[in-house]
Amino acid sequence: MAARGRMIAATFGFCSLIISLLASASETTIPSPKTVVSPSDDHGQEIVHNEPGKRVLLDNVSSGGDECEGEPAAIEPRRLIQGFYHESCPQAEQIVNEVFMKNLQADNYLAPAIVRLFTHDCLVKGCDASILLANTPEGKKVEKNSAINGPFIRGYEVIDEMKARLEAECPGVVSCADILAFANRDALVQSGVPAYEVAAGRRDGRSSLATNVMNNVPILSTPAQGIIEIFNRKGLSLEDLIVLDGAHSIGGAHCVNVRPRISDDIQAREMDPSYVDRLRSMCENINNTVPLDPATPNKMDVGIYDQFLRNNAVLPPDDALAKEPNANAIMKKLAGDQEGWLAKFVLAVIKMGEIEVLTGDQGEIRRDCRAVN
Ligand code: HEM
Repeated sequence: MAARGRMIAATFGFCSLIISLLASASETTIPSPKTVVSPSDDHGQEIVHNEPGKRVLLDNVSSGGDECEGEPAAIEPRRLIQGFYHESCPQAEQIVNEVFMKNLQADNYLAPAIVRLFTHDCLVKGCDASILLANTPEGKKVEKNSAINGPFIRGYEVIDEMKARLEAECPGVVSCADILAFANRDALVQSGVPAYEVAAGRRDGRSSLATNVMNNVPILSTPAQGIIEIFNRKGLSLEDLIVLDGAHSIGGAHCVNVRPRISDDIQAREMDPSYVDRLRSMCENINNTVPLDPATPNKMDVGIYDQFLRNNAVLPPDDALAKEPNANAIMKKLAGDQEGWLAKFVLAVIKMGEIEVLTGDQGEIRRDCRAVN
């Protein structure tokens, strides 16, 4: 138990067509460093890792809408590259991993915290480390201080430590956004997800607004259709969403977020009575946390889908998705297929890590992850 008491386009335009053709023509191994085209705001391309070091571009590449009018070169600013720091900071990923592993010793539930931190960064204005900013020159309330993130997101100090080590080794080179992506991968791998390459080159955003969180991150009361729409807007399909939602196989939830499930008689009645009793007892103190998957809270496994399908989801949105017919059908398929789910999870998390990334000369490389330069 952790020290802190945690238990826990669609419109395929001209440009798309060109990219599609290019992509289908390149359905082969890409020499390292491997360059992948990142998705646009609303639509992504799928990148398949068949085996380590091998990437296959699928031909369903879509354009970035306005950004992609004209020459295919317009997509250039959104490229992420495997081995991006190979020359400029070859030890970058190793440093991130060392700091992660060191901190894991003191905090058994660090992995889920980092996974959630990364997810909430990517869902709001893309994977630009805007969630890390403690303030901005605009002087407005920042993402991390929004009610949705606030006390429910943590891990900031660990990212700071990674950044400090990296600034000492390679000043001004490694972005906070890439640090988050590397740390997220390490957290997932530590939880049983197969190792995968993280294409990099993300740059850090210069703004962060709490007001952007509400419409981009589902809340407890968001209905299934609303959750699906939010993910669709990010270029993530219903299947991506359900696959990613399986991350609730690790970590925990604060009792305040569980309360609607266990104090609402109608919801509680459909759950396993002994499980409800256990949750109620653990949540006598509302400040406690409970595991999302009590059987294996540190292991990414498909048991979580069984739990959802048996009406035992701890969080209302998971229950809502389990009751949505199309989502329910996907959960049923994933529930019996641990290997298949993990393979899909890797693809989906790579896709999520490419949402609206800043690259090239966009944004900046922050010196301190908590403040713009
Ligand atoms: C489908 C929409 C989602 C909703 C509404 C949602 C909501 C939540 C909530 C309310 C919590 C509990 C937070 C707390 O009380 O401390 C939580 C925990 C968590 N979520 Fe989600 N989530 C969603 C999707 C995702 C996705 C896509 C991922 C990652 C791929 C993810 C990863 C996690 C993890 C790892 C935790 C545990 C955090 C920890 O133990 O520190 N969630 N989520």
